[in-house]
Amino acid sequence: MATPKVLATHRLFDAARKTLQDNCDVEYWEKSERPPREEVLRRVKDKEGLICLLTEKVDDELLQAAPKLRIAANVAVGYDNIDVPACTKRGVVATNTPGVLDETTADFAWTLMMAVARRLGEGDVLARSGNWKGWDLDQLVGTDVWGKTLGIVGFGRIGRAMARRAGGFQMRVIYTDAVRAPADAEKELRAEYRDMNELLAEADFISVHTPLLPETHGLFNAAKFQRMKRTAFLINTSRGPVVDEAALVAALEDGKIAGAALDVYEKEPVIHPGLRRSNVVLAPHIASASLETRTKMACMAAENVIALLQGRRPANVLNPEALKG
Ligand code: DGY
Repeated sequence: MATPKVLATHRLFDAARKTLQDNCDVEYWEKSERPPREEVLRRVKDKEGLICLLTEKVDDELLQAAPKLRIAANVAVGYDNIDVPACTKRGVVATNTPGVLDETTADFAWTLMMAVARRLGEGDVLARSGNWKGWDLDQLVGTDVWGKTLGIVGFGRIGRAMARRAGGFQMRVIYTDAVRAPADAEKELRAEYRDMNELLAEADFISVHTPLLPETHGLFNAAKFQRMKRTAFLINTSRGPVVDEAALVAALEDGKIAGAALDVYEKEPVIHPGLRRSNVVLAPHIASASLETRTKMACMAAENVIALLQGRRPANVLNPEALKG
Protein backbone atom coordinates (compact mmCIF):
# COMPACT_ATOMS: atom_id res chain seq x y z
CA MET A 1 0.00 0.00 0.00
CA ALA A 2 1.32 3.47 -0.87
CA THR A 3 2.41 5.64 2.05
CA PRO A 4 -0.30 8.28 2.57
CA LYS A 5 0.55 11.83 1.64
CA VAL A 6 0.18 14.52 4.30
CA LEU A 7 0.62 18.28 4.24
CA ALA A 8 1.92 19.95 7.41
CA THR A 9 1.57 23.71 7.16
CA HIS A 10 4.39 24.10 9.68
CA ARG A 11 7.78 22.48 10.14
CA LEU A 12 6.57 21.17 13.54
CA PHE A 13 8.93 19.92 16.24
CA ASP A 14 11.41 17.05 15.91
CA ALA A 15 9.36 14.71 18.11
CA ALA A 16 6.30 15.11 15.86
CA ARG A 17 8.40 14.74 12.70
CA LYS A 18 9.89 11.52 14.07
CA THR A 19 6.42 10.16 14.80
CA LEU A 20 5.31 10.98 11.28
CA GLN A 21 8.37 9.89 9.32
CA ASP A 22 7.80 6.13 9.31
CA ASN A 23 4.09 6.39 8.72
CA CYS A 24 3.39 9.14 6.21
CA ASP A 25 4.94 10.93 3.30
CA VAL A 26 4.85 14.47 4.69
CA GLU A 27 5.33 17.70 2.80
CA TYR A 28 6.27 20.36 5.34
CA TRP A 29 5.94 24.10 5.02
CA GLU A 30 9.45 24.87 6.25
CA LYS A 31 9.49 28.67 6.17
CA SER A 32 9.12 30.64 9.38
CA GLU A 33 6.32 32.87 8.06
CA ARG A 34 2.86 31.40 7.64
CA PRO A 35 2.12 30.00 4.17
CA PRO A 36 0.04 32.10 1.77
CA ARG A 37 -3.44 30.69 1.24
CA GLU A 38 -2.76 29.85 -2.44
CA GLU A 39 0.22 27.73 -1.38
CA VAL A 40 -1.90 25.74 1.06
CA LEU A 41 -4.60 25.22 -1.57
CA ARG A 42 -2.03 24.13 -4.14
CA ARG A 43 -0.09 21.79 -1.84
CA VAL A 44 -3.12 20.12 -0.26
CA LYS A 45 -4.51 18.95 -3.63
CA ASP A 46 -3.12 15.40 -3.58
CA LYS A 47 -3.01 14.93 0.23
CA GLU A 48 -5.00 12.54 2.41
CA GLY A 49 -3.99 14.25 5.63
CA LEU A 50 -3.58 17.88 6.69
CA ILE A 51 -1.84 19.08 9.85
CA CYS A 52 -2.69 22.75 10.21
CA LEU A 53 -2.47 25.66 12.62
CA LEU A 54 -5.26 27.94 13.76
CA THR A 55 -4.10 30.48 11.18
CA GLU A 56 -5.35 28.25 8.33
CA LYS A 57 -9.02 28.20 7.45
CA VAL A 58 -10.29 24.72 6.70
CA ASP A 59 -13.44 25.69 4.83
CA ASP A 60 -15.38 24.71 1.72
CA GLU A 61 -12.78 26.25 -0.56
CA LEU A 62 -9.95 24.22 0.96
CA LEU A 63 -11.98 21.03 1.09
CA GLN A 64 -12.90 21.47 -2.54
CA ALA A 65 -9.23 21.92 -3.42
CA ALA A 66 -8.38 18.66 -1.58
CA PRO A 67 -10.60 15.89 -2.99
CA LYS A 68 -8.50 13.14 -1.39
CA LEU A 69 -8.44 14.67 2.10
CA ARG A 70 -9.54 12.34 4.92
CA ILE A 71 -8.37 14.22 8.01
CA ALA A 72 -7.70 17.82 9.05
CA ALA A 73 -5.74 17.83 12.30
CA ASN A 74 -5.60 21.20 14.04
CA VAL A 75 -2.57 21.89 16.23
CA ALA A 76 -4.74 23.76 18.74
CA VAL A 77 -7.60 23.04 21.07
CA GLY A 78 -9.71 25.91 19.67
CA TYR A 79 -11.00 25.02 16.22
CA ASP A 80 -12.99 28.03 15.10
CA ASN A 81 -10.74 28.01 12.00
CA ILE A 82 -12.30 24.70 10.94
CA ASP A 83 -15.73 24.51 9.37
CA VAL A 84 -16.60 21.21 11.05
CA PRO A 85 -20.00 20.73 9.33
CA ALA A 86 -18.33 21.28 5.93
CA CYS A 87 -15.72 18.63 6.86
CA THR A 88 -18.47 16.23 7.94
CA LYS A 89 -20.37 16.77 4.67
CA ARG A 90 -17.30 15.65 2.75
CA GLY A 91 -16.39 12.81 5.10
CA VAL A 92 -13.27 14.59 6.36
CA VAL A 93 -12.47 13.91 10.01
CA ALA A 94 -11.48 16.99 12.02
CA THR A 95 -9.38 16.75 15.19
CA ASN A 96 -7.94 19.14 17.79
CA THR A 97 -5.53 18.92 20.74
CA PRO A 98 -7.49 19.09 24.00
CA GLY A 99 -6.06 18.49 27.45
CA VAL A 100 -2.36 19.04 26.84
CA LEU A 101 -2.32 22.82 27.11
CA ASP A 102 -4.62 23.52 30.04
CA GLU A 103 -2.01 24.08 32.74
CA THR A 104 0.33 26.04 30.46
CA THR A 105 -2.49 28.31 29.31
CA ALA A 106 -3.69 28.84 32.88
CA ASP A 107 -0.10 29.70 33.89
CA PHE A 108 -0.07 32.36 31.22
CA ALA A 109 -3.49 33.80 32.08
CA TRP A 110 -2.10 34.09 35.58
CA THR A 111 1.04 35.77 34.22
CA LEU A 112 -1.10 38.34 32.41
CA MET A 113 -3.21 38.97 35.47
CA MET A 114 -0.17 39.58 37.66
CA ALA A 115 1.51 41.71 34.98
CA VAL A 116 -1.40 44.07 34.51
CA ALA A 117 -2.19 44.32 38.23
CA ARG A 118 1.42 45.04 39.17
CA ARG A 119 2.20 47.17 36.10
CA LEU A 120 5.04 44.94 34.95
CA GLY A 121 4.90 46.16 31.33
CA GLU A 122 5.42 49.76 32.41
CA GLY A 123 8.08 48.70 34.90
CA ASP A 124 10.01 46.79 32.26
CA VAL A 125 9.95 49.79 29.92
CA LEU A 126 11.16 52.09 32.70
CA ALA A 127 13.91 49.72 33.87
CA ARG A 128 15.28 49.39 30.32
CA SER A 129 14.95 53.07 29.46
CA GLY A 130 18.02 54.36 31.28
CA ASN A 131 15.71 56.96 32.90
CA TRP A 132 14.95 55.15 36.12
CA LYS A 133 15.92 57.44 38.97
CA GLY A 134 15.66 54.82 41.72
CA TRP A 135 13.17 53.62 44.31
CA ASP A 136 10.27 55.87 45.13
CA LEU A 137 7.38 55.34 47.48
CA ASP A 138 4.59 55.87 44.98
CA GLN A 139 6.36 54.63 41.89
CA LEU A 140 4.28 52.37 39.63
CA VAL A 141 1.96 51.39 42.43
CA GLY A 142 -0.42 48.73 41.20
CA THR A 143 -3.13 46.69 42.80
CA ASP A 144 -2.95 43.49 44.85
CA VAL A 145 -3.98 40.19 43.32
CA TRP A 146 -3.91 38.16 46.53
CA GLY A 147 -7.09 38.18 48.54
CA LYS A 148 -9.20 39.52 45.65
CA THR A 149 -12.12 37.95 43.78
CA LEU A 150 -11.32 36.08 40.61
CA GLY A 151 -14.22 35.71 38.16
CA ILE A 152 -13.82 32.92 35.63
CA VAL A 153 -15.99 32.98 32.52
CA GLY A 154 -16.03 29.49 31.01
CA PHE A 155 -15.40 26.74 33.55
CA GLY A 156 -13.93 24.04 31.34
CA ARG A 157 -10.50 22.48 31.72
CA ILE A 158 -8.55 25.75 31.42
CA GLY A 159 -10.98 27.76 33.55
CA ARG A 160 -10.68 25.13 36.27
CA ALA A 161 -6.87 25.11 36.04
CA MET A 162 -7.08 28.87 36.56
CA ALA A 163 -9.28 28.36 39.63
CA ARG A 164 -6.88 25.78 41.08
CA ARG A 165 -4.09 28.37 41.14
CA ALA A 166 -6.19 30.89 43.07
CA GLY A 167 -5.91 29.07 46.42
CA GLY A 168 -2.27 30.02 46.82
CA PHE A 169 -3.22 33.67 46.47
CA GLN A 170 -6.04 33.45 49.00
CA MET A 171 -8.50 34.54 46.34
CA ARG A 172 -12.22 33.98 46.30
CA VAL A 173 -13.22 32.25 43.08
CA ILE A 174 -16.53 32.75 41.32
CA TYR A 175 -17.36 31.40 37.89
CA THR A 176 -20.03 31.38 35.26
CA ASP A 177 -20.69 28.92 32.48
CA ALA A 178 -23.61 27.77 30.35
CA VAL A 179 -23.61 24.59 32.42
CA ARG A 180 -23.03 24.67 36.17
CA ALA A 181 -20.16 22.43 37.34
CA PRO A 182 -20.93 19.39 39.53
CA ALA A 183 -20.96 20.10 43.26
CA ASP A 184 -17.79 18.07 43.90
CA ALA A 185 -15.83 20.14 41.34
CA GLU A 186 -17.09 23.38 42.91
CA LYS A 187 -16.10 22.09 46.34
CA GLU A 188 -12.65 20.90 45.27
CA LEU A 189 -11.87 24.19 43.52
CA ARG A 190 -13.65 26.31 46.13
CA ALA A 191 -15.50 27.99 43.30
CA GLU A 192 -18.96 29.48 43.58
CA TYR A 193 -21.36 29.69 40.66
CA ARG A 194 -22.72 33.09 39.67
CA ASP A 195 -24.81 34.23 36.75
CA MET A 196 -22.95 36.51 34.36
CA ASN A 197 -24.30 39.75 35.79
CA GLU A 198 -23.46 38.78 39.35
CA LEU A 199 -19.96 37.79 38.30
CA LEU A 200 -19.43 41.08 36.46
CA ALA A 201 -20.49 43.02 39.53
CA GLU A 202 -18.38 41.07 42.04
CA ALA A 203 -15.09 40.16 40.35
CA ASP A 204 -11.87 42.13 40.67
CA PHE A 205 -10.27 40.12 37.86
CA ILE A 206 -12.27 38.48 35.09
CA SER A 207 -10.49 35.78 33.14
CA VAL A 208 -12.16 34.56 29.94
CA HIS A 209 -11.93 30.87 28.97
CA THR A 210 -14.83 30.28 26.61
CA PRO A 211 -14.49 28.81 23.13
CA LEU A 212 -15.48 31.06 20.23
CA LEU A 213 -19.06 30.13 19.33
CA PRO A 214 -21.92 32.13 17.83
CA GLU A 215 -23.17 32.62 21.43
CA THR A 216 -19.81 33.91 22.71
CA HIS A 217 -18.95 36.16 19.74
CA GLY A 218 -18.81 39.72 21.15
CA LEU A 219 -19.77 38.40 24.60
CA PHE A 220 -17.77 41.17 26.29
CA ASN A 221 -19.48 44.27 24.94
CA ALA A 222 -20.24 47.78 26.20
CA ALA A 223 -23.08 46.54 28.42
CA LYS A 224 -20.79 44.02 30.13
CA PHE A 225 -18.04 46.59 30.73
CA GLN A 226 -20.66 48.92 32.18
CA ARG A 227 -21.51 46.26 34.78
CA MET A 228 -17.89 45.59 35.81
CA LYS A 229 -16.29 47.33 38.78
CA ARG A 230 -14.33 50.43 37.77
CA THR A 231 -11.37 48.85 39.59
CA ALA A 232 -11.62 45.51 37.74
CA PHE A 233 -9.37 44.01 35.07
CA LEU A 234 -10.23 41.83 32.07
CA ILE A 235 -7.89 38.98 31.08
CA ASN A 236 -8.45 37.18 27.76
CA THR A 237 -6.54 34.08 26.67
CA SER A 238 -9.47 32.45 24.83
CA ARG A 239 -10.30 33.90 21.41
CA GLY A 240 -10.16 37.56 20.39
CA PRO A 241 -13.68 37.89 18.97
CA VAL A 242 -15.15 36.97 22.36
CA VAL A 243 -14.32 40.58 23.27
CA ASP A 244 -15.64 43.54 21.28
CA GLU A 245 -12.35 45.44 21.02
CA ALA A 246 -13.89 48.81 20.14
CA ALA A 247 -16.12 48.54 23.22
CA LEU A 248 -13.12 47.54 25.34
CA VAL A 249 -11.13 50.54 24.13
CA ALA A 250 -14.07 52.83 24.93
CA ALA A 251 -14.42 51.28 28.40
CA LEU A 252 -10.71 51.81 29.08
CA GLU A 253 -10.83 55.38 27.80
CA ASP A 254 -13.87 56.19 29.93
CA GLY A 255 -12.38 54.54 33.03
CA LYS A 256 -15.22 52.01 33.19
CA ILE A 257 -12.65 49.31 34.01
CA ALA A 258 -9.12 49.57 35.39
CA GLY A 259 -7.22 47.65 32.71
CA ALA A 260 -6.91 44.61 30.53
CA ALA A 261 -4.38 41.94 29.66
CA LEU A 262 -4.84 40.23 26.32
CA ASP A 263 -3.24 37.36 24.45
CA VAL A 264 -5.79 37.18 21.63
CA TYR A 265 -7.39 39.71 19.30
CA GLU A 266 -10.39 40.16 17.06
CA LYS A 267 -8.40 40.36 13.82
CA GLU A 268 -5.03 38.76 14.53
CA PRO A 269 -2.34 39.79 13.89
CA VAL A 270 -3.87 43.29 13.79
CA ILE A 271 -4.29 44.84 17.23
CA HIS A 272 -6.69 47.73 17.76
CA PRO A 273 -4.42 50.80 18.17
CA GLY A 274 -6.55 51.99 21.10
CA LEU A 275 -5.30 49.01 23.10
CA ARG A 276 -1.75 50.34 23.17
CA ARG A 277 -2.26 51.96 26.54
CA SER A 278 -0.27 51.80 29.74
CA ASN A 279 -3.03 49.95 31.59
CA VAL A 280 -3.17 47.19 28.98
CA VAL A 281 -0.73 44.30 28.73
CA LEU A 282 -0.50 42.82 25.24
CA ALA A 283 0.90 39.42 24.28
CA PRO A 284 1.03 37.85 20.80
CA HIS A 285 -1.18 34.75 21.29
CA ILE A 286 1.40 32.73 23.24
CA ALA A 287 -0.57 31.36 26.18
CA SER A 288 0.21 27.74 25.26
CA ALA A 289 3.71 28.50 24.05
CA SER A 290 5.98 26.47 26.28
CA LEU A 291 8.27 24.11 24.39
CA GLU A 292 6.87 21.14 26.30
CA THR A 293 3.26 21.98 25.52
CA ARG A 294 3.68 23.04 21.89
CA THR A 295 5.63 19.81 21.27
CA LYS A 296 2.82 17.78 22.83
CA MET A 297 0.26 19.60 20.68
CA ALA A 298 2.20 18.86 17.49
CA CYS A 299 2.67 15.19 18.47
CA MET A 300 -1.01 14.86 19.26
CA ALA A 301 -2.00 16.20 15.84
CA ALA A 302 0.54 13.86 14.20
CA GLU A 303 -0.86 10.88 16.11
CA ASN A 304 -4.41 11.80 15.12
CA VAL A 305 -3.40 11.79 11.46
CA ILE A 306 -1.50 8.51 11.68
CA ALA A 307 -4.36 6.80 13.49
CA LEU A 308 -6.92 7.76 10.90
CA LEU A 309 -4.74 6.95 7.92
CA GLN A 310 -4.00 3.54 9.47
CA GLY A 311 -7.69 2.81 9.90
CA ARG A 312 -7.86 3.50 13.64
CA ARG A 313 -10.02 6.05 15.44
CA PRO A 314 -8.04 9.20 16.29
CA ALA A 315 -8.18 10.22 19.94
CA ASN A 316 -9.58 13.71 19.41
CA VAL A 317 -12.32 13.53 16.80
CA LEU A 318 -14.57 16.60 16.55
CA ASN A 319 -17.04 15.05 14.09
CA PRO A 320 -17.53 11.34 14.80
CA GLU A 321 -20.22 11.32 12.09
CA ALA A 322 -17.41 11.60 9.54
CA LEU A 323 -15.78 8.35 10.68
CA LYS A 324 -16.47 5.56 8.27
CA GLY A 325 -17.60 2.12 9.45
C1 DGY B 1 -5.44 26.86 21.11
O1 DGY B 1 -4.92 25.74 21.24
O2 DGY B 1 -6.61 27.01 20.78
C2 DGY B 1 -4.59 28.05 21.41
O3 DGY B 1 -5.20 29.26 21.19
C3 DGY B 1 -3.28 27.96 20.70
O4 DGY B 1 -2.47 27.49 21.66
